[in-house]
Amino acid sequence: MSKIMKIYFSPSGTTKQVVEQVASNFDNQSENYDLLNFSEAKEFSAQDIAIVGLPIFAGRLPKSGRDRLAKLKGNNTKAIAITNYGNAHVSDALLELVDLLKENNFDVVAAATTVSHHSIFDGVAVGRPDSEDIEKINEFSKKCADKIESGESLKSEIPGNRPYVDYKQLPFEISCDETVCAFCYDCVSVCPEKAIPDDDPIDTDLDICSRCSACISICPEDARKFSGEAFETKKPAFESANSERKEPEFFL
Ligand SMILES: Cc1cc2nc3c(=O)[nH]c(=O)nc-3n(C[C@H](O)[C@H](O)[C@H](O)COP(=O)(O)O)c2cc1C
Repeated sequence: MSKIMKIYFSPSGTTKQVVEQVASNFDNQSENYDLLNFSEAKEFSAQDIAIVGLPIFAGRLPKSGRDRLAKLKGNNTKAIAITNYGNAHVSDALLELVDLLKENNFDVVAAATTVSHHSIFDGVAVGRPDSEDIEKINEFSKKCADKIESGESLKSEIPGNRPYVDYKQLPFEISCDETVCAFCYDCVSVCPEKAIPDDDPIDTDLDICSRCSACISICPEDARKFSGEAFETKKPAFESANSERKEPEFFL
């Protein structure tokens, strides 16, 4: 029987949640490839079904997630491509994901953009994915299962442009309150860019940090946060500009 390969890069956990939700609609056994921890090369078989989820960063795939995903090759392996975003904009990220999977010999059968809580601006898309999202994701998953059963590939056009929009690094700082930090070093281990030194978790090298937020999410003491003038100034305007609910979109 086919195995489900759950493949995700999910610094604040919502993309993983969406991938798990899609997978829960299949009865098959599954394996997890958490790209925050897994950076090896791997080849999947023609019998496998890959459910691949990455968040959207500045309208693109996060570079670390993309680089790690690029090491995973298919063998005409069926794939469901999902980009998950914080209710602002998708730009070219889903197109980039579908292109990458096809280049790496996956047979993309369906694709989706889903909406989740914004991992930087915590006033946007609060509580999402919610029950309405989950219902739509379940419907989509059942359609994916039917397509896989009948051997159909993706037919819909994926919106976006090539070349993809230029990636813009966010100027926000990430700070760590040393009076609260328990020096557990979880942030050091999880950082995909190795931007937090082994000997000093209070420090973050902002030149290499992608602001993915994995260190903030994993911190058991809530010692880490986005900060600085650029962040504080942007937050209210961003939250008000992106307050209107956007809906997930599905491509079959
Ligand atoms: C560096 C960075 C850039 C982001 N850029 C976008 C964006 O362009 N559009 C958007 O809607 N959300 C954006 N977001 C929000 C995330 O896409 C969203 O919160 C997603 O659910 C995070 O997934 P995760 O919980 O798996 O980390 C960005 C988040 C980060 C950390």
